[in-house]
Formats: sequence, structure tokens, C-alpha cells
Amino acid sequence: MIDPAGQQVVTELEALNKQMTGCAACGLAKGRTQVVPGEGNPHAEVVFIGEGPGFHEDQQGRPFVGPAGQFLDELLKAAGLRRSEVYICNIVKCRPPGNRDPYPIEIQTCSKWLDSQLALVHPKVIVTLGRYSLARYLPGQSISKVHGKPLVKDGVTIVPMLHPAAALHQASLRPTLLEDFAQLPQILKAARAAPTPAGAAAGTQQLTLF
Ligand code: URA
Ligand code: SF4
Repeated sequence: MIDPAGQQVVTELEALNKQMTGCAACGLAKGRTQVVPGEGNPHAEVVFIGEGPGFHEDQQGRPFVGPAGQFLDELLKAAGLRRSEVYICNIVKCRPPGNRDPYPIEIQTCSKWLDSQLALVHPKVIVTLGRYSLARYLPGQSISKVHGKPLVKDGVTIVPMLHPAAALHQASLRPTLLEDFAQLPQILKAARAAPTPAGAAAGTQQLTLF
């Protein structure tokens, strides 16, 4: 039987992402080839949030399809996750020119799209890839200190990870990323057992692993 609420999420997410493709709300609209809304399972328990589209993503309209995406596929495998069961998106949906870092105003303007996506997908676990998505949840924290350490914020488990592209520039970070991702099954298990957002305490706590 089709679950009407589940089907509604699928329809609304499709509509949202379609609407996004026409967005010109910030300066990044000028330089992009196309918007990269994100993709994956609308009912995913785990959402991955990267920084922004690069060259290949801008060409194809899909997140993480270039070299960083190939490494992300490897990392997902290490976590026992299939790409089709998770949701993957970015902090900004349009490619910053020359792959520069997104400006605060661009991140702020684009956040309405990500807010709406997360409200629909409603994940148990949010994996932040790199420092910009980390800053959305834990501003001021240093990624080199907090990567791989899950926290529960307002009932959602946040797992800060290094950005996969960092390991392409610095090979010594590969094992760190692989180790952090290998913890995800255990983190997901603990997150499933944790109280739902409605029953959870407000604020940030450490996630208790079994
Ligand atoms: N890097 C990102 O942060 N996101 C992508 O989609 C690709 C590379
Ligand atoms: Fe719109 Fe976001 Fe693209 Fe800016 S980056 S134009 S806010 S979709």
C-alpha cells in the first residue's frame, strides 16, 4: 500500500527542487551552468551536506559526481551505505566561480532551500562534509578537532566529517575519513534508539554509542 504521507514528501521534494532550478536569489546564479539541488532517497535516514557544486556537478546538475564524489562513493561503501538510500546535497546549490569558497551572504540566501529540503526528508543523522556545513550546526568549531565525533542537536544526530576533497589534496587524510565513515553504522544504530526531535532535550549533547 502507498503511504500517503510518504508519497507527499516525494511530491513536495520534487516540486521544491524543480522550483530551485529557477532561483536567482544570490550572485552565484550568474556564473552557474545549472542549479544542483541534490538527490537521493526522499525518506533517507542519513543526509550528507557538502559545500557547493564543483565543475562536474555544475555541468551535470548532480551533487558529488566529480573526483570528490568518487571518493565519497568509496566512503559510503566503507559505511555500508548505498548512494540510493541516502540523500546528498550542498550548502549552496550553485557553483561558486573558479570553485572559490561561498560568501556568507550566499550561504545565508541559499539556506532557505536547504532548510526546506531537511524539513521534508527529516533525517535522523546529518553528516556535514567540510567546514561550511559544520558551521551551519556548530559555528566556531574547528573541523580538525571535532571530525568523527557525533553530537545530538535538538534531537538530530550531527556527524562532522572532513570534506572528501581534502583527501584528494592531502593523501594522509584518506585513512582518517575512512575511519570516521566506518563508524557510521554504529552511529546510525544509536541515533535510531535516541529520542525523536519532539521528545528530545533542546540544545547539544554527545551521542551515546553502545
Ligand atoms: N564538493 C562539494 O562540496 N559538493 C559537491 O557536490 C561536489 C564537490
Ligand atoms: Fe539561489 Fe542558492 Fe543558487 Fe544562490 S546559490 S542562486 S540562493 S539556488
